[in-house]
Order: sequence, then C-alpha cells, then structure tokens
Amino acid sequence: MEDAYIIRGGKPLRGEVRLSGAKNSALKVIIASLLFDTHVTIKNVPHIGDIDDLLTLINSLGGNARFIAQNQVMIDGSSINKNTIAFLYASKIRVSFMLFAPLLHKLGKGNIPNPGGCRIGSRPIDRHIECMKALDIHVTYSESDGYYRASLEKKRIQGGKYRFEKSSHTGTEFALMLASCAEGETVIENICLEPEVDDLINFLIKGGAHIKKKDKTLIVQGVKKLKIDFPYHISPDRNEAVTFALFAIATKGSVMVHDVNTAHIQTFIDVLKKAGGGVEYEGMGICFYYNHALYSTDVTTAVHPGFMTDWQAPWAVLMTQAEGISTIHETVFENRFSYVEELRKLGAHIDYFYPPVFNPHEIYQFNISKEEREKYQAIRIHGKTLLHNGVLQVSDLRAGASLLLASSVAEGESIIRGASVIDRGYETIDRKLKAIGALIKKV
Ligand code: EPU
Repeated sequence: MEDAYIIRGGKPLRGEVRLSGAKNSALKVIIASLLFDTHVTIKNVPHIGDIDDLLTLINSLGGNARFIAQNQVMIDGSSINKNTIAFLYASKIRVSFMLFAPLLHKLGKGNIPNPGGCRIGSRPIDRHIECMKALDIHVTYSESDGYYRASLEKKRIQGGKYRFEKSSHTGTEFALMLASCAEGETVIENICLEPEVDDLINFLIKGGAHIKKKDKTLIVQGVKKLKIDFPYHISPDRNEAVTFALFAIATKGSVMVHDVNTAHIQTFIDVLKKAGGGVEYEGMGICFYYNHALYSTDVTTAVHPGFMTDWQAPWAVLMTQAEGISTIHETVFENRFSYVEELRKLGAHIDYFYPPVFNPHEIYQFNISKEEREKYQAIRIHGKTLLHNGVLQVSDLRAGASLLLASSVAEGESIIRGASVIDRGYETIDRKLKAIGALIKKV
C-alpha cells in the first residue's frame, strides 16, 4: 500500500452522512472503563486507528479489550497485571499517559513513557503531573529512558484540590478519572468544558461515581468501586460534523449531516452563517449547503464554547474560497499551521503574521516561552483562489482532513500521502466521501 488517498476534485458533493462516535470521547471512556471492577460494553465506538492502538495497548498490559460487534467494544480491566507500558505502544497514542489512572487504581504504580500522538506543538504534560502530585501521587521522570514512574504513598489515590492555571482538555479528563476512585473529596478548578468531558462525566456517573459540576469546577467524592450493567453509548463526533459541513460548502454542494448535537458546534454554525454558508435544521440533523458567494472572516480559536482549534485547518480551506482577506489566530496550540505549506502547493495565498496580543499569558493556552512568543500564531488567507491539484503530505489528523478537503475543491487529481494519519481519527472517511459523490480512492 502507498498509504495515500487520490482525489479528483472540482465536483460539488451532495448527499447524506451519518456521524461516527466521537474519537475524543471514546478514547477516554475506554480508559476509564479500566477503573471498573467488571467488564464494560461501549457502543458507537469509531473503528479508527487510534482506538485499535489503544485496545492493543490495553491487551499488552494483561487486560482484555476488543471489538465484539460493529462499533461495539468490550473492555475488561480486571486482569491487568503489568504496570509498564512499552515505548512502542505509548509513542503511537497520546492518551497513553491517561493509563496512569487505572494502573495506579489497580496496581498502585505505573511506568509510562512520554506520550506520542499528533505533532501539534510541544504538547507537554506538566499540568497532568502537577495534578497527580496534588492527589498525593509520587511521580518522577527519568531522562535516561524517557519514562514517568508513578506510585501511591497510601493504598488509594487521595482526594485533594487542583486548579488548572491554563486549560487542559485531557488534563481535566485525567483529573476526573483519578478523582473518581480517590479516597475522599477532590475539587478540580478551571476545568475544560468540552462536550467530550461531559461524555466522560456521564459515563462515570452511570458507573456510580459522585461528580458535581458547577461552572468551571468539579467536585468529586471518590468511590471504591465502579460498575455498569448496561452498554454506554458514545456521543456523535462534533469534529466530523464540522469536517463534512465544510466539504459540502467548500465544494459548492449540499450535505445532510445526521445525529449532530447542535449545541456542540454552535460557535461553528454562527461563524459559518456569517461567512454565508447555508444551514438548515431537520430533526436531529443539519443540512449544510452552499448558498451564495462566501465572505471572509476573522476567527480566533479557543476552548469550548469557542471556535475549536481542530476546526481552524479545514476552515482555512473554506476561506481560500471566500472573497477578501480572512484571518485565523490560533491560541490553543503553539504549532498548528503545518498545513499552510501544503495548501500553498495547491495555489492558496496564505501568509503569517503576529496578531497584537496584550495579555499573551491569558490568551494562549500553551506555556509561553520566549521562542513560542517569537512563533507566528496567526495567518492571513487571501481569497478567492482557484486551487489546482498537487502532491501533499499529511502532518497531523486535522491537517490531513483539510488536505482531503482542499483536494476536493481543487481541479484535477491530487495525491495525499499519509492516509493512515487521517484514518487514525476518521472512520472510513473515503467511504463516507464516496457516498456523497467524491472521486476518492485509497492506494
Ligand atoms: N498543555 C500544556 N501542559 C499540559 C497540558 C496541556 O502545556 O500539561 C498545553 C498544550 O500543549 C496545548 C494547550 O495546553 O497548547 C491545550 O492542550 P489540551 O491539554 O487542552 O489538549 P489535549 O488534551 O492534548 C485534546 C484533544 C485534541 C484537541 C484539544 C483541544 C484528545 C485526545 N485530544 O488535546 O484533539 O485539539 O484537546 O480541544 O482529546 C485531535 O483530535 O486531532 C486533537 C488534537
């Protein structure tokens, strides 16, 4: 296999798409299932590369995790007997770090290498570590082998208080997992409000956890045992909804996206309407369609309920089709413009600039070093551009989906190398695109 997608673009995409379950919920719910004493069944799990890698990793620890039917996973963590995650598995998937929660709960210690995952900035885990320390967990890092080693002083994780000085999505979820099985009360402040966090809260509550959410604070009374007797259903993927909405509008087509939770993408819908995109609600679905010539927009990414960082790369593609100059200011990750060079290969006019920021420590969610401040955090897209075909390289998941999108807009045949990176997060994206008329094949 060439690990590439070939797309012949320039054709309006029309039809219907049913969303898969959210990758960023499923990964955490599967890990949290390992805190349970019994086996857990999870439905609507997307069958994607990241999930396969996570299941392999769990099995490597002695657990039992597998697909038992289409989009249905069974996880039994009761047999976990190894406390060290091999470098090979951890390097593939960033959430491997969250396995510290079940390893500490079950075995009292764990050894996990520095996490892998998409290369979008340095992605440190200092906030996760600080949170562990606040819950009485002893953690050290060895530079010689790249492993974090954690152990409990007492029999159980101890309740405590932790405040995220800057937001962290997986940090919030990790803290929640630790707190759910800790002894006593844990207060977690300045949490992320992402819908995937709510999915995890719902799952843990259904398993018997005591969690209260008030504004941006979680109050958790730890329990000894978690148990669930019925399958848990993962919510639809809001990132996939946005991706297909943009396929519809950028190609001047019309796509009915089923099973969308509108509240999860409200900010996107608002900005899309300002750009002139067509949005029509039909029951539990939304029809996204090309309405008329698109307007340029100025977008700043932010944590939920803001305009999500994962949406900015495909949005940049849409803005190549809008009249005038659009801007995107990325505030969540310090390096999420890797797709710009690739879009330039198709003829897009994009340049970088320094947006005026007077309070960078408040605005930016990444830790700001001098080097980071000297990196460009914003782009200008000069539209409207007639995109042409090219040979492109995928660097990260969302950038990959954006290159598929740009190639669908562009005239001619494009090759997108790195199909497996896209398949890590989008379930059968080629089949779903074919169903709405895309001329796409995997080679
Ligand atoms: N950060 C730190 N230290 C930490 C934690 C985070 O400096 O200890 C920084 C990050 O480097 C980043 C910022 O804080 O600059 C925010 O990071 P966050 O922890 O919120 O991101 P994440 O949890 O690593 C998750 C999703 C991302 C999504 C972001 C934002 C998963 C597995 N990943 O990442 O999804 O973009 O939240 O919502 O849930 C994707 O699906 O392709 C993806 C990258």
